This record gives sequence, C-alpha cells and structure tokens, in this order.
Amino acid sequence: MRDRLLAAEKVKAIEWREGMLYLLDQRVLPREETWLAYDSAAGVAAAIQSMVVRGAPAIGIAAAFGLVLGARARLEEGGDWRAALESDFKVLADSRPTAVNLFWALDRMRERLQRLKASEDALAVLEAEAIGIFDSDREANLTMAQLGMELIRKHQDGPQKLLTHCNTGALATGGFGTALGVIRAAHLSGLVERVYADETRPWLQGSRLTAWELAGEGVPVSLNADSAAAHLMKTEGITWVIVGADRITANGDVANKIGTYQLAVNAMHHGVRFMVVAPSSTIDMSLEDGEDIPIEERDGRELLDIGGQRIAADVHAVNPVFDVTPADLIDAIITEKGIVERPDAAKMAQLMCRKRLH
Ligand code: MRU
Repeated sequence: MRDRLLAAEKVKAIEWREGMLYLLDQRVLPREETWLAYDSAAGVAAAIQSMVVRGAPAIGIAAAFGLVLGARARLEEGGDWRAALESDFKVLADSRPTAVNLFWALDRMRERLQRLKASEDALAVLEAEAIGIFDSDREANLTMAQLGMELIRKHQDGPQKLLTHCNTGALATGGFGTALGVIRAAHLSGLVERVYADETRPWLQGSRLTAWELAGEGVPVSLNADSAAAHLMKTEGITWVIVGADRITANGDVANKIGTYQLAVNAMHHGVRFMVVAPSSTIDMSLEDGEDIPIEERDGRELLDIGGQRIAADVHAVNPVFDVTPADLIDAIITEKGIVERPDAAKMAQLMCRKRLH
C-alpha cells in the first residue's frame, strides 16, 4: 500500500530549494497555480497569516523553514544572533493561534538550537531539523492512511460513501494528507463509492482544494454546501465522516475547521461513524480539554464579501474559523502512533507513550 500511495502522490504545496522556501499560493487555487518564493521569517509568517499556506501540518513545516530563513539573516547580521532570532520565533508564533503544529515545530527548532555544539554549523543543523520535520510528516501520512483504511475495512467491505470537511490533503501537509490520505488509501483499496466534500465556508477549502485534489486523482467526489451535510447523512447512506484536526487535547477533544462540531453531532444522530486523522504533532497534552484551545477569529469581511465585492447587509459578522468537537462524539482518532477508539484521557496518555509505528 505504501508504494501505491507514493505512486499516487501528485500535488505538493511546499518546496525547500537552494535556501529558499516556495509555497503554492492556496488562495487562488484551482483557478491559478502560482508559486511564491520566501526568503525571510516575516515573509513566511505573513504567508501563514494570509492563507497562502494553510492546514495544520503544512503551517508547522512552513514555520520551521521560516525559522531557518530567520537564522540565516541573523547570522549574516552578526552580533548576538541567537538573541535576535527570538523576534523571528515570535513573529512566526503570532501568525495563527489554533493549529498546535505551528508551536510544536517552533519548539522542536528551539530545542535543537539549545543542543547546538560549538563545532556545529548552526544553519546546516537548523535546515536539517526543518527537513526532518517535513519528512516525518510525510511518513506519518503514509502510516495513518494505512491505519484509517484498515479501520474502514474492519467495519465495512465494499465501496462506501464518505463525507469530509475542509482540506486535509497534500496541500495541507508534507505528504498527501491526513483525512484525505485515509480517503486516498480507501479509494486505492476499493472502499470508496463517493466522497462528499463540504464546501467549507468562508475560505472554500472544500470546493477549491479538496474537490480539486480528489478529482485530479479520479476519486468520485461530489461537492455540497456545508448546510447539506445532515440531509446527506440521512438520505445518502454515508457511513463515515473523516476529518483532520488542528489541535487535540489530553482528553481527546478536537479543534478543527468551523463546522466540524455540527458534523459530529449530526453523525452521532444518524449512526454515522466519525474519524479524526492527525499526526501526534497535533496533540497538545498540555491542555486538559478543548475549553482552553485558542480559537482563531478572522476578519468579518471574509463572510461579508466575496471576491472583494460586498454581498451581505452592512452588519457585524462573527467569524470563528475553528470549533471544538468533544471526545465523546468521536469514534476514532488515527495517528502515526496508532489508533485510539472512543478517546478519553487515559487512552490519549497511553498513545503518547508509544513510538511511531513505522
Ligand atoms: O484554516 P485552515 O485551512 O488552515 O484549516 C485547516 C483545517 O481545519 C484542517 O482540517 C486541519 O488543519 C487539518 S489539515 C491536515
């Protein structure tokens, strides 16, 4: 399965080449495929904030390379470059608040910096660490795809109707995806009749990105308005909702794209299984439960305008872009360390003690 998955890998959104970071501009996909080049930490932070790059693992990878770019500039400036680098850590950490992968990646870079020996080339060490973060996410995607697909096969044989939300594919990760990786593996195993992709207002990650990735690989996909999901669960025989995550707390609560929570409530009502797929870099054991997850609130204009054109009445718009699904609505969390079924604090703690499976 790993080889077949690797062979199916077509889309990528992040490239590190000759000391520059290249990002596929996700704001204009699928209309345009434009790559933007970055050579500074502040530039990468702005790319994260403005959604050039998005998706929890991809944000973490981009931030790690942003830090490498910051370190290069600080070393060139001379003086106390490590003290100066603190402002690059800060600008990157301030770019978006919810996806913990961002802070995880920056912590990992800091930790490597703290272990730096006088004999080592600081820039080469930081670059290797960022590349390691990128590569290990790709590996984690492969493992999770296999595990998630096997879980579907354990419950059903034959092609299933699956529903997903937001974009969790190659565009959102270092490989070919978390939830979308499972869906890809299920497709290659003959377990997919159709994927329903929620449109995902207001950024349209579902209609612009997920539908584009799946259609590009010949996976049967139908686009639906977010508000159609409950009706589709009732009428279409959907067996699984499969989503990614931006932060999972110690008790198994899951923050993900706004609208995920209502999907989980509806899935429970309709007897549809609910699967969350995320690498362990998305798990934040420092938070007891989802109450404490910072939920990003973006500019109301994202709801009031479409394509720069005002479409709404002139009112205040509330625009939280993530929500929290309580652990008791989740059937399974798939990570590269293994599967947690019906998550709770004890099972999450046990999972985090395990090594990655491959
Ligand atoms: O605002 P976005 O597009 O960064 O939100 C992305 C999501 O909510 C994804 O579901 C999540 O990051 C998992 S991506 C593998």
